[in-house]
Parts: sequence; C-alpha cells; structure tokens
Amino acid sequence: MNKQLRTPVIAGNWKMNNTPAQTAALIAQLIPLAQGEATVVAAVPFIDLPTALEAAKGTNIAIAAQNVHWAESGAFTGEVSAQMLQALGVPYVVIGHSERRQYFGETDVTVQQRVRAALNAGLKVILCIGEVLSERKLGITAEIVRAQTEIALAGVSADELSNVILAYEPVWAIGTGETATPAQANEVCALLRALLARLYGQDAADRTVIQYGGSMNDANAAELLAQPDVDGGLIGGASLVAEKFAAIIAAANA
Ligand code: 13P
Repeated sequence: MNKQLRTPVIAGNWKMNNTPAQTAALIAQLIPLAQGEATVVAAVPFIDLPTALEAAKGTNIAIAAQNVHWAESGAFTGEVSAQMLQALGVPYVVIGHSERRQYFGETDVTVQQRVRAALNAGLKVILCIGEVLSERKLGITAEIVRAQTEIALAGVSADELSNVILAYEPVWAIGTGETATPAQANEVCALLRALLARLYGQDAADRTVIQYGGSMNDANAAELLAQPDVDGGLIGGASLVAEKFAAIIAAANA
C-alpha cells in the first residue's frame, strides 16, 4: 500500500453559491478550522476568485476555479481562459464536472482540451469523471470511467500528471444524499490507479491523488477516506457549511 506517498486533498466545490462577500466570510470561518496536513481547496464561482484569493492568502486554503476554456483568448462569450486564471494567481481548476457535462454540453474531447490548456498555463487540475446511474446498472462503470480518464489525459506526460488530481464522482451520488459505499468508491479509485499505472508507470500512479465525490459529508467522510485508494474528497453541499467541511478535513487528517 502506497497511501503514504500521497497527501490527502479535501476540496469544496461551492458551485453557483455565494457572493464575493459570502465567500470571504465562509473562508474566514474555515481558516481556523482548516489546519493539518491535508491540502484544502475551495472552488468558487469566477466572480468570487479575487476576493477568495485575498481572503485565503497565507493560509492553508488554496483556491480553485470551477472551469476553464481551452483557448488563450478570442470570441468565446462567457468563457475564461487559463491565462486569465494564471494572471490572477489561481492555482487550481476543476475540469469536467458532471454538471458541466450534463447541462452545458461538455464532452470528453472538450474536457481534454481544457485539461491541456490548464496544464500549459501551469495550473493544477482537478479532473472529474464518473458514471451515470444507467451506466452503473448496465455494469459498464469501469469502461466509462477508464474512457473518460484516458481521453482527458491524452497527451498529458508523466511529469504533467503530478499536476493532476482525479476526482471520481459517480453522478448518481451527486447532490442526492446517496453516497457510494466505501467499497464501491475504492473499487473505482483502485481501477483508475491501475489505469494510471498502465499509462504512466506504477510510481506515477502511486503518487497521484484520487478523490471521491458524491454526497460526502461529516458523517461518512472518515470511512470513505480510510479506503486505501481514496486520497481525498470533492465535496459539494457539505462544504458550504464551515463546521461540516471542517469535520471532513479533520477526518482526512486523522
Ligand atoms: P455533493 O457533495 O453535494 O453531492 O456534490 C458533489 C460534487 O458534485 C462535488 O463536485
């Protein structure tokens, strides 16, 4: 078991919640609670990024954007480039979230393009993959998450992989209160690590952080995070409540 090669990463995906002032207040609440070895990340709406960076400066909390476009600049109304995030000093970006795929037409190929652009700009990527319920029922979860991951990482070198975190988020568990069992979460995280080992070698695979996401909360985090291949969490609803998010961070540090 090589879990000691990886520092846990607990990331809150705050989705389309909170104004800049509310984001600053939540970060201020979190700062004294987010202590310990685990890396803590807050993914905030684009408009909240400057305020969040300022509020988290010099603390244990790193800031992420929730998406990024693949072009440097141009006629892409409503989009934000990796160069813009880099210029602002944003260290992380979430790419391929199921809500982007489900509601905004993102595909494995556009996810790959976004990953490429983010890594080119020196950003760290939290790459989301996960099957929908009908795919799990068909018994094709492994094929789906392998294909999503392999396409998203096309052209990513072993060196660049050190700037990628995988987030396994079964879509049926997101925002539903229905969590994957620890065994289900670990099974998929382990098969993703085996895929990384095939693509990049065992050492690179052993060093890659693989998170679980989908209704992780203060009550179930400890058991999920104790799994050998689950190295952290990507948390939606529970990360919007400082005490709950802090309890998940504490579980990662235990
Ligand atoms: P919930 O924790 O609200 O299920 O959301 C998970 C998620 O989508 C994190 O990206």
